[in-house]
Amino acid sequence: MNIVVLISGRGSNLQAIIKGIEEGLIKARISLVISNKKSAKGLEIAKRHGIKTVFINPKEFLSREEYDSKLIEVISKENPDLIVLAGYMRILSSKFIDTFEGKIVNIHPSLIPSFQGLNAQKQAIEFGAKFSGCTVHFVTKELDNGPIIIQAVVPVLPDDTEETLSNRILQYEHRVYPQAIKWISEGRVQVEGRKVIVKDAKYGTIPVNPSLEDF
Ligand code: GRF
Repeated sequence: MNIVVLISGRGSNLQAIIKGIEEGLIKARISLVISNKKSAKGLEIAKRHGIKTVFINPKEFLSREEYDSKLIEVISKENPDLIVLAGYMRILSSKFIDTFEGKIVNIHPSLIPSFQGLNAQKQAIEFGAKFSGCTVHFVTKELDNGPIIIQAVVPVLPDDTEETLSNRILQYEHRVYPQAIKWISEGRVQVEGRKVIVKDAKYGTIPVNPSLEDF
């Protein structure tokens, strides 16, 4: 399976996916990492692991559509089986999503459909939620709302700050994202409308459903 990863920042999820590949758990190859931010730390991580990188500067394009046309051109050359959004902080155009329909996954730091959009951890704290978590989902035109592959739940504690809750969630992000990608690479992920079934996975487990197998 050939993967293209889109990032904007730190790249800790990218790092977790690279680790899963390098340890031989995920039978895939990341052929390209793309960033819309020149300073993204994730670009350095990719380079250190011998992965090709490209920074595509939004300032060089007049509109989102033009930017995404460039993205489509660059990504299509890689002929990817999967496009992984790992902290990619730009909204994708309809054309982009149509072009790669069913092949784009994202991780969001909440239990969607709660707390979609920016600063999901802060939203959970301010709302007074007692649980939050993270979700790996397919990307559709509705922001942070596509069919759910796997979710992990964590408690929200009375004295949590955005940082402490984010860290608690992140520990699970680094496990559920590689796991979901592994399942996709094994052809075990079936989508019917909004519902995703992972073949032969164990359902009904807490705090991660379906249950983690490898991470
Ligand atoms: C993560 O919290 C992810 O859920 C969200 O953006 C953040 C990216 O972190 N979509 P990193 O760049 O992978 O470290």
